[in-house]
Amino acid sequence: MLVSAPGKIILFGEHSVVYGRGAIASAIDLRTYTEGKLLKEKIIKIHANDLKIPGLSISFSEEEIVLGTDYGKAGFVVSYVKSAIEKIFTEYGSRKGFEISIKSEIPVGAGLGSSAAVVVPTLKLLSELLEMNLSNEEIAVMGKNVEIEVQGSSSGIDPAVSALGGGLYFKKGKIERFSAPNLPLIVGYTGEKGSTKILLEKVKALKEEYPEILENIMDAMEDIASKSKKILSENGDIKELGTLMNINNGLLEAIGVSTKELSELVFASRISGALGAKITGAGGGGCMYALAPNKQREVETAIKIAGGIPIRTKTTDEGVRVEHK
Ligand code: PMV
Repeated sequence: MLVSAPGKIILFGEHSVVYGRGAIASAIDLRTYTEGKLLKEKIIKIHANDLKIPGLSISFSEEEIVLGTDYGKAGFVVSYVKSAIEKIFTEYGSRKGFEISIKSEIPVGAGLGSSAAVVVPTLKLLSELLEMNLSNEEIAVMGKNVEIEVQGSSSGIDPAVSALGGGLYFKKGKIERFSAPNLPLIVGYTGEKGSTKILLEKVKALKEEYPEILENIMDAMEDIASKSKKILSENGDIKELGTLMNINNGLLEAIGVSTKELSELVFASRISGALGAKITGAGGGGCMYALAPNKQREVETAIKIAGGIPIRTKTTDEGVRVEHK
């Protein structure tokens, strides 16, 4: 059986969402594929060549699943897979042997939801193989619990987007899904992502020093997110969306989460014809994205010249799905 799930991009409202304001994320058409079958032997085999894991076997007894080898950064991804497997077996009530191959189009650790995009199709694949038929909503919740177990905390944005697809509006723990148009985007990756934890601490410290100013900035970010949601869900004017991206980016600059590298990619995109360009995610490195319907090649080239890695993608309505049984 082959299952796939998308990565995510935060379109608007990163950081302000932490302080109770709305944020918009969307699924993108870069996907992770998990293919697998049940085995008679009591063994779990994981193949993840694209994640630079040469092949890994996990043995398990009645008590626990044991990871044989640590493969550094790639091993970190495997810890998500392991936790996902544990969650499913707990729900199912017993353990089964199976084999799973993972292939991903999503760069690992760039802030595009690569971990959730591994967890979600793994959960779906096992749910289908074991005939548990979990809903995508249940998978989103399980995915959040996997992230909490592995990373210590999770907003749940990444697994929700990966499971449900489309555009999602997040506010105070509530999620509203809407169908978003296929926006043509160019993501620019600086090559190294900042630590979300450190960036969150930085914003918190600034907010403690200048509470009123930061509250006003967060309110402005909230206005941008709700205006953008209206434009996206009503298929409105994407030129206006570009302008809102530029304003939001200015506010992210104001709260100190940009870097010289990110700003250079943002300006390179605008100069080469993007309607808008902004940081996506926590900042401090990582990714920005540009909205450039008719200038995709120009923006890709400009990002490359400015030292970034361009990734062409578009927003999509498709969440986790079974490709074939
Ligand atoms: O770094 P990312 O892509 O996981 O984005 C973090 C987004 C924040 O708003 C900064 C934090 C959060 O949990 O919402």
